Order: sequence, then structure tokens, then C-alpha cells
Amino acid sequence: MLSYDVVVIGAGLAGLRAALEAKKSGASVAVFTKKYPNDSHSKEAQGGINAAIDSKDNWESHFFDTVKGSDYLGDQDAIEILTSDAPRVIKELISFGTNFSKTSDGKIAQRPFGAQSFFRTCYSADRTGHSLLHSVYEQALANSIKIYNEFMTLSLVIKDNKIVGVVVLDLSSTRTLTVNCKSLVVATGGAGAIYKKTTNPDNKGDGMGLAFEVGLPLMDMEMIQFHPTTLVPSNKLMSEASRGEGAYLINSKNERFMQKYAPTKLELASRDIVARAIQTEINEGRGAENEYLYLDFRHLGEEKIYSKLPDMRRNALNLTGKDMVREPIPIQPGQHYTMGGIETNSKTETQIQGLYAAGECACISVHGANRLGGNSLLETLVFGRIAGKNAAKFAKKSKLVPIK
Ligand code: FUM
Repeated sequence: MLSYDVVVIGAGLAGLRAALEAKKSGASVAVFTKKYPNDSHSKEAQGGINAAIDSKDNWESHFFDTVKGSDYLGDQDAIEILTSDAPRVIKELISFGTNFSKTSDGKIAQRPFGAQSFFRTCYSADRTGHSLLHSVYEQALANSIKIYNEFMTLSLVIKDNKIVGVVVLDLSSTRTLTVNCKSLVVATGGAGAIYKKTTNPDNKGDGMGLAFEVGLPLMDMEMIQFHPTTLVPSNKLMSEASRGEGAYLINSKNERFMQKYAPTKLELASRDIVARAIQTEINEGRGAENEYLYLDFRHLGEEKIYSKLPDMRRNALNLTGKDMVREPIPIQPGQHYTMGGIETNSKTETQIQGLYAAGECACISVHGANRLGGNSLLETLVFGRIAGKNAAKFAKKSKLVPIK
């Protein structure tokens, strides 16, 4: 039987960051993932990662924007951890080799994102999640972390309210294996596949299901985020970076309408407000084919589109046949993020000893009723690290409990 101090389920940013921290803390670590790390859903959060790194910004302002964005339902102690740690995360990513976009004077470029009071979102063009994922995966490889690709976790093994192992299915051989461990981090992502229109069709709520089966509570499951702009009909993400760079919404009468719904913030109001505004326009008969509206990029010009939004242009061209340089792009709201998940405290602990959860599958809750764009990549790295550290600490003081 395989045995490790710490097992991590899921190889997106939260899982990889947890594994890295546990390994650096001296634990033996293995990651089990249904797909491959560089195909995990973290690569889809393209617009950026929030951090108050400008000298005129401060984490307290990031904290308040996040609290307000959550409709005051987020856990403020956890939000303090998230936002105050963000500048450190950016420094760490630079040390990992992340290629952030820069200003002409060599600083890390930051773009505006919805419902934030400062240009606070650091980015790598419009492929930030992709870029971060590759940086952290590279660190996992450099630290010789054992990654089991194409292994699906079937169940968690609990004895006397303590995690003692997992049963996994090797998808290529169809053999099942039991893995003994002292502690375990669940980092399996969200549950977008529940919805027909989603930017996240690959994530099926596996970790939440595993936790629920062993009696753990799921929290805030009614809090689902709809991203305002997904391509029609594929629902592939048209990143918030588009609106951050100045693209605006028009209805089928060619009217800019956000003035009616958010007179000051317009297209950069919080996601729930913009998504509802779009759906209201559609419901009231100002949508094309009663299904969608348009995101208009034409005024941005070729140079800005090619340099800041190259992947968005390519995706729109491939999936809708329309070139945003010349024509507006059909969009509609689509499910994007599961704010709820496995209940944890801000140390990422669940109610089962040695069992931790981080990233989209967990609910700490830093997002309350509505997550700010750019806070999910941050959450994975802040709380993935905390989970890895605490899982390793727990493993150090525990003995392997044999599974018969
Ligand atoms: O629109 C986006 O680029 C998505 C980012 C996020 O969900 O944080």
C-alpha cells in the first residue's frame, strides 16, 4: 500500500501550492489528480490576481472592497488574511518566475477590475491563470513532488474522526488503490458542471461530494457566481480583463445600458450587478434572439487588443467566427464560481482531524455572496499555502494509522 505523510487531492493552484508548502515543511507528499496539473481549471482565471502593491494603495482598501463585494457576508478575519498576504504572494510568484505584464517604466502593470476602488489586478496579458499555474507546477516539479496524474479519488477513509487515507481509481488501468496518509488536503475546485451554461464544465464538485459523504458540512452552497460575459454558445470565458481594458456592453438596439444599472461603475460594477443587468436587458426584449447581448471592443483598436487581449480575441474568433477588432462579440452570463463549499476555518481545518480544504472547493468564506474578480487566484495561493503548512504540521505529530 502507498503511504505518505500528506496527500493532496487536486493539482490546480491551491493543490500544488499546498503540496509545495507541505514538502518544504519536511513532509513526504503526493498529489492525486483526475487530469494533469497544467490542464486544471486554475488556468481559466485569466484576467488577473489582486494585490495592493502600488504605493498609493493599501491592503485595508483591498480588504474593504472584498467585504463590500461579498455583500458583507464574507468572513472578515479570513478576508484580512487574504488581502494582507497578497503583496507577499506577488513577490513569491516573481521569485517562481511568473511573467507579469509590465508598465513602460518596468513596474508590474495593474488593471481595473469590477467593484474595486484601485487599479489592483496584476496580470500576464489575458492568460494570468495559465501563467501562474505553470510557475507553481514548475516549483512542484523542481521540488520532486510526486504527482499521480489521471487518478480519481473515490472516497476518504476516516477512523475515529481522523483522516487515515484515500481510495483512488487509476483511470488508465481502472485499478483501485488505497493510500495511507497522516493528513490530507482537498483542493478539487468548484462544481460548475451542475450548470448547463458554465465557464467551468470540467469541475464536478468531487471534493465537496467526498467531504459530504463522510459527514462534513457544506456551507453557502446557494452562493453561485455568474460571470457577466461568456461567449455564445460555448460559454467560454470572455475575461473581465476585457471590460478592465475598456470594452463595453451594448444591447440589440445598439445602446450602452449599464448607466441605468450602475451609473458610476458602469461595466466595472461587481459581477452580480453586471450579470443581472445583462439578463434584465435580455428578459425585457433587448437581447439578440432573446438569448444574448454584445461586448464591444472596436474602439480599443488593434494594438491594444493584440497586446492586452490576445487570447480573448483568438477564442472569440475560433468559437464565434467574429473578430473583435471589427465586430461586437455575442455574450451572455454563465455560471463561473462556487462561493460555497467544504466548511473550513481560516486555518483551512475541517471538522475531521488532519483533513484540510483550500481553493474553490472550500468555504472559509472569503467571498460571501459574491467574489471579486481577481480574488480567486489569490485565494488559491494564500490558503493553499496555509493548508500545506498545517497539514505538514499535523502529520509531524501524528502516526500512520494502518488501513485494513
Ligand atoms: O474574468 C476573469 O478573468 C476571471 C477572473 C476571476 O474569476 O477571478
